[in-house]
Amino acid sequence: MRPVTEKRGTVAELMREWIFDLFDGEGINANRMAERLIVNLGERSYPIWFGSDLGAEVRAKLAEFTAAGRKVAIVTDQTVATRQAAALAAMFGATPVLALAPGEATKSLAELGRVLDFLAAQRLDRTSVLFVVGGGVIGDLAGFAAAAYLRGIDFVQMPTTLLAMVDSSVGGKTGINLTAGKNLVGAFHQPRGVFVATGLLATLPPREFAAGMAEVIKYGLLGDAGLLAQLERAPLTVNSPELAAVVRRCCELKAAIVEADERELAQEGGRALLNLGHTFGHAIEQVTGYGAYLHGEAVAIGLCAAARLSEKLGAIGAVEVARVDAVVAAHGLPTRLRAPLALGELRAAMARDKKVRAGGLRFVVLKALGAAATQGGIDPALADASFAAVGAV
Ligand SMILES: NC(=O)c1ccc[n+]([C@@H]2O[C@H](COP(=O)([O-])OP(=O)(O)OC[C@H]3O[C@@H](n4cnc5c(N)ncnc54)[C@H](O)[C@@H]3O)[C@@H](O)[C@H]2O)c1
Ligand SMILES: [Zn+2]
Repeated sequence: MRPVTEKRGTVAELMREWIFDLFDGEGINANRMAERLIVNLGERSYPIWFGSDLGAEVRAKLAEFTAAGRKVAIVTDQTVATRQAAALAAMFGATPVLALAPGEATKSLAELGRVLDFLAAQRLDRTSVLFVVGGGVIGDLAGFAAAAYLRGIDFVQMPTTLLAMVDSSVGGKTGINLTAGKNLVGAFHQPRGVFVATGLLATLPPREFAAGMAEVIKYGLLGDAGLLAQLERAPLTVNSPELAAVVRRCCELKAAIVEADERELAQEGGRALLNLGHTFGHAIEQVTGYGAYLHGEAVAIGLCAAARLSEKLGAIGAVEVARVDAVVAAHGLPTRLRAPLALGELRAAMARDKKVRAGGLRFVVLKALGAAATQGGIDPALADASFAAVGAV
């Protein structure tokens, strides 16, 4: 005898129904609502909504939570709270909000404590929902607070930087920095939904937009030759009509990678592919003390170095390396170090990178423009030469 609760239908139908159950009421509004993408992670699956202005969708979701007796609170940063004051007021009304100082220094134990105290002061319980509105700093910090508070409450990401829209708000990595290094404490805690409202980027400083483009270019290089060609034909700007579609494509690529390797356990490929350009980039950030270069700027130079490493390994040619440089430069990003950095220091920083596995240097290399692979046992001399080619001495 079958249990009475059994549901029949195609996997897709059941999945859709199941998602609606998870994120209550979605089915009712599905036709009216903006475009969405599902990140399929079993019981941790969630939708990402895309649109220029998702105010109506956010208000509808808040009303649902309230009707179900679920308390809501918001964490954001002071810059977002100021620059997007009207949008936030229109969406969230009188919902309690904590606005922290902007900047990487906020991803600290002290600020984590502040967020947790705020959640407790608002008397959030296990049914409550935290809305995290901001760039990757707020997403990582408040996402981690949601993972830890009462051993984990639901949270919703509302990214406000390009980097957060295409990268940090999808995939469930949350965390903070220690004095000893970046992202050393954290948790995998998937959001219950992500609202990607690209209209919020209108107030983002151009330098921050460009930094986010480094990650967009990264997606093209590692997994979508068509996306790369599109960026080569016409550099993407905050006013490009195709902005929302490009952001969506990046989320699709990231979702597919995360779905296949949620906890970055794959021996080869998998989630580690998202680190294309990042072993070089993290070393630049570390040696310069996280001040001179934005993360995306360091990654941009890292992509150019990774292209050279791939060339030295015989996977791509000089023409492809030149194409990588050109698309990076066309988006207002550096292709070389602005001032020389010592190879010895960069090498030491790479050796400390938690992503570099024991037993030799491991990099993400390009097999072609649009295809990447992880490769271990890289001759350190080749990594040095690649770094030298982008200005290290
Ligand atoms: N969890 C992940 O998977 C993941 C992935 C990549 C990066 N990250 C993390 O993300 C962080 C970087 O994120 P980021 O680049 O978004 O930085 P950020 O959060 O510091 O935002 C950059 C700046 O833009 C401002 N800002 C944000 N939205 C704005 C808007 N709409 N208008 C005007 N100003 C706005 C912020 O106040 C800040 O000054 C790093 O800590 C990094 O480690 C996490
Ligand atoms: Zn990155």
